[in-house]
Amino acid sequence: MKTIFKSGENADAIKQAAAILQNGGLVAFPTETVYGLGADALNAEAAAKIYAAKGRPSDNPLIVHIADKNAVYELAYNVSEKAVMLMEAFWPGPLTIILPKKNIVPYGTTGGLNTVAIRMPSHPVALSLIKESGVYIAAPSANTSGRPSPTNAEHVKEDMDGRIDMIIDGGAVGIGIESTIVDMTGEIPTILRPGFVTKKMLEDIVGPVTTDKAIVCPDAAYKPKAPGMKYTHYAPKGELTIVESITNDNTAVIDKINSLVKEKTNAGHNVAIISSEENSGKYNCKNIFIAGSVSKDETVAARIYGILRQCDDISADFIFSEAFDKGALGSAIMNRLLKAAGQRIINV
Ligand code: TXA
Ligand code: MG
Repeated sequence: MKTIFKSGENADAIKQAAAILQNGGLVAFPTETVYGLGADALNAEAAAKIYAAKGRPSDNPLIVHIADKNAVYELAYNVSEKAVMLMEAFWPGPLTIILPKKNIVPYGTTGGLNTVAIRMPSHPVALSLIKESGVYIAAPSANTSGRPSPTNAEHVKEDMDGRIDMIIDGGAVGIGIESTIVDMTGEIPTILRPGFVTKKMLEDIVGPVTTDKAIVCPDAAYKPKAPGMKYTHYAPKGELTIVESITNDNTAVIDKINSLVKEKTNAGHNVAIISSEENSGKYNCKNIFIAGSVSKDETVAARIYGILRQCDDISADFIFSEAFDKGALGSAIMNRLLKAAGQRIINV
């Protein structure tokens, strides 16, 4: 398959992409969080192509993207008052809500579940594509299953060229990590995946919110409620280890990373460090990737997936990263980083 590659600024691009979606094809497009790989959500055959292109396990459900809040009532039952409050507060934006699905949503889109994940993205290209095509777009992140999510069109091309019909280039995304997922099927809203919309932001709107136990204790024997959260994910090819200080001893972290780098380099391995802007001058290593500033963790969110891909580009065998758990996005960033590291963490 020849993949069409067009800029989102090209007026024809949206029209052409809309026609592809209407005909059951696959289009990758930018959203404010990460790039999505879209197909007609109500067409089970089209949705099946997403799984094939990504190599995605078929029990991992897709998020349905809409461009109008009222679409929720077409797709889902029991849209609670709290769900409406969240939709009003955060849509369009990086929040996905889970509700009981109506029959028009095929099981092929929901991975066999009786619930459906719905999100109204804020990216103008995503919104105009949904509107122009007139279809609800099922879209997971546009990466090969297991790889870091794509935050620019080049990342999508790396993974999907020749496997999908079209890629719309909308430049680098703004947020860089996937939407917050909140299960609204129970009495108390439950976060299934942390994201840019934090627990505090949700609680300010709807009161108490819980977090899926499997997210809080990833080592424990809890099964995540979002099927996708159980898979190894976002992982670079090299072995990633996070080095953290429980006592906030920054010097201890730097010393430990420097000594690990020395040990692996001496053994002939290619080593990389993922550093904060603040610490980047304090390491001895030929590959230092600066994730962003500890005091502005949105910069870290925006860069982290690109850096994990760069580690692959330079064929890093071992990667050592600082922890980025201090700011408002700490739980969202660490959720991704720990999964990429297979939960490998050294406390100093
Ligand atoms: O920001 C995002 O959400 C991006 C952009 C493209 O919108 N999409 C995204 O999709 O991250 P994906 O497929 O990579 O992640 C969707 C997650 C998976 O962990 C999946 O298991 C979970 O949402 N999910 C989808 N439907 C669900 C449902 N009905 N119940 C529980 N979890 C669900
Ligand atoms: Mg994904």
